Parts: sequence; C-alpha cells; structure tokens
Amino acid sequence: MKKLIGPFTQILPLTGLPLKGALKDEQLNIIDNGGALVEDGLILTVDDFEKLRKNYPSAQVEEITGDHVLLPGFVDCHTHICFAGSRAKDYAMRNAGKSYLEIAASGGGIWDSVAQTRAATETELSNLLTKRIARHLAEGVTTIEVKSGYGLSVTEELKQLKAIRQAADKTHAHIIPTCLAAHIKPKDFDGAESEYLKYLVNDLLPKIKQEGLASRVDIFIEQSAFNTSDALFYLSKARQMGFEATVHADQFTTGGTEVAVKARAASADHLEASGDYEIKLLANSDTVAVTLPGASLGLGMGYAPARKLLDAGACLAIASDWNPGSAPMGDLLMQASVMAASEKLSAAEVFAGLTFRASQALKLNDRGILIKGKLADMQAYPCNDYREILYQQGKLKPVRVWTSENND
Ligand code: NIG
Ligand code: FE
Repeated sequence: MKKLIGPFTQILPLTGLPLKGALKDEQLNIIDNGGALVEDGLILTVDDFEKLRKNYPSAQVEEITGDHVLLPGFVDCHTHICFAGSRAKDYAMRNAGKSYLEIAASGGGIWDSVAQTRAATETELSNLLTKRIARHLAEGVTTIEVKSGYGLSVTEELKQLKAIRQAADKTHAHIIPTCLAAHIKPKDFDGAESEYLKYLVNDLLPKIKQEGLASRVDIFIEQSAFNTSDALFYLSKARQMGFEATVHADQFTTGGTEVAVKARAASADHLEASGDYEIKLLANSDTVAVTLPGASLGLGMGYAPARKLLDAGACLAIASDWNPGSAPMGDLLMQASVMAASEKLSAAEVFAGLTFRASQALKLNDRGILIKGKLADMQAYPCNDYREILYQQGKLKPVRVWTSENND
C-alpha cells in the first residue's frame, strides 16, 4: 500500500551530495511544499506534494498540518548505552579538577561501569537500554549503534550483546551491535594486554560469530587501554574472521588513526588529539572520521578538528558517544549544534554527518538520504526553515519520527 506523507514546508532529501569533504548549504536540494511517498517501509519518491497527490490518487494520505521540515532520520554510529549504574561521582571529581585518566587510575572510570554492569542481569540491562533507545528514537535517531565493552569477559560480553539483541527486538529503531570487549584490559584478567586480546580472539569472537550477535568490533587505542601493535594484531584477526572494524582513536594521544587506516577500519572515532598527519591520513582513506562532541562536552575538552577534516576532504560523521563516563548527556542534535558553532560547520555538513555520512561509518548504504529504494526513516521538525533546527541548538525536537519498521 502506497502512503503519501505531507505536505512539508521543506524537505531536505540530502541527495546528490558528495560522501567526503566540505559542503555548503547552497548544495542542499530543498523541496518546498513537498511530500514523501513510501511503500513497504521504503521511499518511493520525494517531490512536490500536490504533484504526488495527483500522480498517485489511490495512495493513502498521512496529512501533516502546519509548518514542518522533513529530514532523514539520524544515524548515531557510536554509543555505549548498554550499561547499568551511574558515574555522576566521576563527573563531580572531574569538575573538581581530576582528569579522566587520573580517575580511571584510581579505580573509577570504565572499570566502575564494568562492575555495575556485571551486577545487572541480562533483562535488567536490556530494560535500561530499551529506555535509552526510546529516548533517542523520539529525538529523531532512527539507527543506533550500541557497543558492549562493560562486560570484559566472555560470559559478561555475551550477556551485554544478548541484552542488546533483546532490546533490538522490541523497538522500531534499527540497532547495530558492536563488540567492544577490547575497551580496557579488565582488572581481574591475569596477563598482559596482548594476552587478553588473544583470549578475545580465541574464546569470544568465535562465539559472537556463531550466535550472530555482532558483525563489528571496536578497540580503544590509548595509553590507558591498548597499544598500537596489539591493536593491529587484534583488528587483523577480527577482520580475518569477517568482522568489520572501528577504532577509538586519538582521544588523548595519537596512534589510533594510523592503526584504523592500516586495518581499513570503517571508522576512526574521537580524534580530539588528531593533528595534520592524522587528518591527511583520514582524508586519503575510506575510513570515516567520527567526531564525538558529547565526549568533549562531558570531559570539558576541545573538539576534534572537524572543520580541518572536512576541508582536507575527509568523510566526517557526528555521533553522541552516549556513555555513563565521558558523555552522559546523549543528546545528539544538541551536541552537533553546539559543536557546529565552534567548528564553523554548515547545516549541510552537520546533517550529512548525522545521516548518510554516519551510515557510511556503519557500512550501511540503505539509509540516510530520502531517495527511491532507501529506508523510510524520517523525522519532522515543527518549523518553516531548516536553519531553525541548528539555531535552536538542539532544543527543537522532531514532533514525528518514522522508521521503515512502522512506515508503510
Ligand atoms: O568513547 N574512550 C573510551 N570509551 C568511552 C568512554 C567510556 C566510559 O568512560 O565509560 C568513550 O569516551
Ligand atoms: Fe566511545
């Protein structure tokens, strides 16, 4: 059954834009008084609303009244929202002057979330995750990547990934699981970092494959986590087993981007510490540069060099990094809008980074733009000009969100 949704004051289909490099708002192909024709959860076309009404007289019409701007649903390609407990204590300590790494070294940090997450059952975790997914979906995020990484043993990582699968089965949002067992070496593992990674390769990754729990792996490359040569070993083993790779790179120190590019990772995420060398590497590769402004805001640090990455020709995605430690806010649009003001990003660059460029970081080519054959993942903002959306710095929320799973 065909369905015509509209009219919308403006539709930003985000089509015809390059995957990499700087964008100007003049390149946006805005459709005024537009409609979206969908069938079986896919876009058939977006065009002038009256024209579509005339050409498809038998389509069911979902009438939109008042001014609205239609965008593709956002893709949050980096989150850690499968966790239990809180780290409000860490946040207070940071604001009292302690650094993220000092807090981690003194027993707080990621390890604290591991303890709290291990203490929760799979169902408790899945229920917590379901609530966070529902909030994100209501805010227009129709595809959400969710990492494990607070289990850090075979049993506990599998529990997290199963909780993610449980939650995925209960939502209209699209959930993309990633195994981040290589977050840090757990304190209860008896052996070196390299041995922990071998244990993951031998004992965890085959089970994840077998049970179809994830097809991506992530690793945190940092002085407090894993070094570059151990990470290269881990990623190449994972790639040989058929996993896609992504990397927590250059958050505090460099090294991660080089590994990500060498391992042909889908994305290198964070990049706050990246310099000209890393920017060039990313611009000349297919690895998507993912900036995580929520982590900069949560840690009170500078942003990744988003403007420079775009000007150099990189594919720049923007994700929330929503996690209990460094990025507890989880409001993707607010984070992107606020960063855009500092980094001087155009609306076209921000929306591209939140949609089709972010889906590239997940190697998904079926979403992020509104054109025939793509998923009918869409969101409508109550305003008459797309510029209102970033201008209101995340306070203007969509009033209607559709995903392919409830849009036919
Ligand atoms: O992306 N950098 C490492 N991992 C997360 C933080 C996780 C945590 O602090 O719990 C991040 O910022
Ligand atoms: Fe992260």
